[in-house]
Amino acid sequence: MALTCRLVLLLGAATLPLLLCLTAEAREVGVNYGRVANDLPDPAAVVQLLRENGITMVRIYDTNDAVLRSFANTGIKLMVMLPNENLADAARSPSYAADWARRSVAAYLPATRIHAVSVGNEVFDSRPDLTPLLVPAMTNVQAALAQLGLADAIKVSTPLSFAAVTDSFPPSRGRFRDDIAQPVMRPMLEFLKRTGSYLTINLYPYFAYAAQPDKISRDYFLGNPNPGVLDQDTGLMYYSLLDAQRDATFAAMDKLGFTSLQAFQGETGSASAGRPKPGSPHKPHAPWELAVGDGDGVDPPAASKANAQAYNNNVINRVLSGRTGTPLRPDADMDVYIFALFNENGKGSGPDDIEANFGLFYPNMQKVYEFDFSGGGSPPPAPAAESWCVANASVGDSWLQAALEYACGHGADCGAIQPGAVCFEPDTRLAHASYAFNSYYQRNGRANGTCDFNGAAYIVYQEPAGTCDPNASWCVANAAVGDKRLLDGLSYACANGADCSAIQPGAPCFEPNTMVAHASYAFNSYYQRNHRASGTCDFAGAASVVYQAPSEFTLSSTETACSHQRLRLKKR
Ligand SMILES: *[C@@H]1O[C@H](CO)[C@@H](O)[C@H](O)[C@H]1NC(C)=O
Ligand SMILES: *[C@@H]1O[C@H](CO)[C@@H](O)[C@H](O)[C@H]1NC(C)=O
Ligand SMILES: *[C@@H]1O[C@H](CO)[C@@H](O)[C@H](O)[C@H]1NC(C)=O
Repeated sequence: MALTCRLVLLLGAATLPLLLCLTAEAREVGVNYGRVANDLPDPAAVVQLLRENGITMVRIYDTNDAVLRSFANTGIKLMVMLPNENLADAARSPSYAADWARRSVAAYLPATRIHAVSVGNEVFDSRPDLTPLLVPAMTNVQAALAQLGLADAIKVSTPLSFAAVTDSFPPSRGRFRDDIAQPVMRPMLEFLKRTGSYLTINLYPYFAYAAQPDKISRDYFLGNPNPGVLDQDTGLMYYSLLDAQRDATFAAMDKLGFTSLQAFQGETGSASAGRPKPGSPHKPHAPWELAVGDGDGVDPPAASKANAQAYNNNVINRVLSGRTGTPLRPDADMDVYIFALFNENGKGSGPDDIEANFGLFYPNMQKVYEFDFSGGGSPPPAPAAESWCVANASVGDSWLQAALEYACGHGADCGAIQPGAVCFEPDTRLAHASYAFNSYYQRNGRANGTCDFNGAAYIVYQEPAGTCDPNASWCVANAAVGDKRLLDGLSYACANGADCSAIQPGAPCFEPNTMVAHASYAFNSYYQRNHRASGTCDFAGAASVVYQAPSEFTLSSTETACSHQRLRLKKR
């Protein structure tokens, strides 16, 4: 289904089928079933394990007969591979490609649900000598599948490593390496577009973080809420290193004129143990000069169960929630294979090599850590509960009046609802009672039992429309100080109690995704949570207090809408 959608997108079909397709599409997370090990369970047991864990999509690194047969009649979707060793033959000989497609793919259909073929794997890095043969091999394999009537059912791609992209930070500067951009990537992208396929890239934020844990925030690597990183060229904020890498890839595609092609994520993952070995093949090429580090110097090692669990569950949850857009491509899809199904003892140089520790499962089929392919693993933190106390009209006027007098006589601030004062309008008993009850409730720190008034009041968790605040003030960012100082302030606010969850991707105040909008949001949250205490809206001069709703600021209209609505929520 996902592939059909891409096909429609790429062929530029009419709007209606495209929309139908998008709404019908479910994103999917799979696993890489690598077998570079001598202690793995047999394929039939693996199929059972996958089913028990709700895993419906698998990538393998060959077309092993026993594996392909084990997946028959399971409904599990498979991406198979023509290995690098066979790539030269497939490039030079259409009849070799045809024979391979018949024997290794078509022979297993339809019982085994092969939906994609990767031609080689990270060829530029692992077999640079084959680089000129890559697109010819893809072309021959695709033509062979088309001959068999499988052009729509099975897409051909080739997983690249992220080393194909250079200048990857800021993301908008991403481009393909000079030696491959014109000779290989341009014809490859043309091929992918022509055949309704997609670029496949293996992204490992883990390696970038492991190389520079002092420069890259751990939460940014993991996809946890964090203050974000600015692309100073576009003004877009990034909250996940994975998205920054995805956008660097999109930017590289854009530079070759392929602005509508999808980038499919081949694989991603994070090590749960092990020491990195120098010269690891996944070592990032690009310098990651990012602006934020956690800065406490006590970060746990990059390869840890906690990190792998958080990273992979965040990826899974993100894909399943459909929040797969990136700052540069808000509509981008993301299907992904988690690397890898098992810890593989034949990878790397020994059991303490991180390469041998990417598995979700140990070879004995025990989980290395908790994860959930239905999206239930480590849910994102709930926003801080805020609440308001409102009057219940149905208890009747006399009851309300008695309760109102009680509240005003026991510490509620009722000055503002006196005739002529700022919250006198609307002059109804219900509005005045709500004002007084809420004042009492807030002044008592929203303690249990302080919003009751014998049943005349109840608690709500959304700010009621028209709530009057006599002393409203807001803290807003000053764009003129520049992004560096805004980011410093933003990082400080988010690390010191501001609610920054609403400005994470997919959250209500993510758009507009600009530094000044996000800084205003965070500054104001910090200010309100500190009860507008003096000195809590400064951020080294990056912020100032305003007494009118910030609609008059140099904020765009959407920004105003979010700021306005959300800033009001933060009052008191
Ligand atoms: C409002 O009061 C009525 C009458 O006492 C009661 O039935 C109702 O549950 C109350 N509503 C809320 C939201 O508490
Ligand atoms: C308020 O009451 C609820 C349930 O009655 C309880 O779970 C909660 O801990 C209480 N909160 C406080 C601050 O006492
Ligand atoms: C408004 O400000 C005054 C003076 O600082 C204070 O006494 C009053 O409690 C404030 N009211 C609210 C609702 O914050």
